[in-house]
Amino acid sequence: MFTNAIVRTPCKNMIKGLTSSTEGPPDYLKALIQHKIYVDALKSCGMEITTLPPNDNYPDSTFVEDAALLTPHCGIITRPGAHSRRRETNSMKRVMTDFYDDIEEIKSPGTVDAGDIMMVGSHYYIGLSKRTNTTGVNQVIKILNKYNLTGSTIALSEMLHLKSGLSYLENNNLVVAGEFTDNPEFQKFNLIKIDDDESYAANCVWINDYVLIAKVYPKTKQSIEQIGYETIELDMSEFRKLDGGLSCLSLRF
Ligand code: GLY
Repeated sequence: MFTNAIVRTPCKNMIKGLTSSTEGPPDYLKALIQHKIYVDALKSCGMEITTLPPNDNYPDSTFVEDAALLTPHCGIITRPGAHSRRRETNSMKRVMTDFYDDIEEIKSPGTVDAGDIMMVGSHYYIGLSKRTNTTGVNQVIKILNKYNLTGSTIALSEMLHLKSGLSYLENNNLVVAGEFTDNPEFQKFNLIKIDDDESYAANCVWINDYVLIAKVYPKTKQSIEQIGYETIELDMSEFRKLDGGLSCLSLRF
């Protein structure tokens, strides 16, 4: 059960955000509307929302998920792998003190984007990616162990973040796409396999038995509803242009 979410309103400079997309820059005003609808969806799932103000110094800062890992026992400030995103953590640190007594921090030369971390109960899968390095992974595992939590490493070869292709929906249900589909680490789960033509939809978000999914991916929606979840579809077109997904837009705890 999650009760709180932290989000950050997109800034005008989001049009300069990092991307591998060829779709062109996002439409800022459209993104603002999509973000508001996203926040309303979180509220409808029973979440209290803390909204950080837009910050034009950091074009990608609406993707708050990368700046911190919030566990039930401690908050961990990350050290994002992209230089342009590294200081997004400053304001996150400040807001986390409202919720956590124990705040840990990833230190140089470690880099971690928390979009590379997927929580499954008390275990955390940590992607080794272009953004998250081995030193960073080892630091995260050491911190988790201190709080009786565990972590393990998953090597990425193609996707930006671990959660670009994996979403845990509780009750052993795992949405999986692309390079993760045949990974032996995940075969113990009830896998909801996403076809390549809908792989963007693999980044979805379980919140208190609802699942937020991107619009319009009918096969993914049907597969998730078939196993008993109510879905909430959200238009993510402008965030997709920055390689961002649904989970990237909030920290849920
Ligand atoms: N545009 C999101 C990222 O690359 O981190």
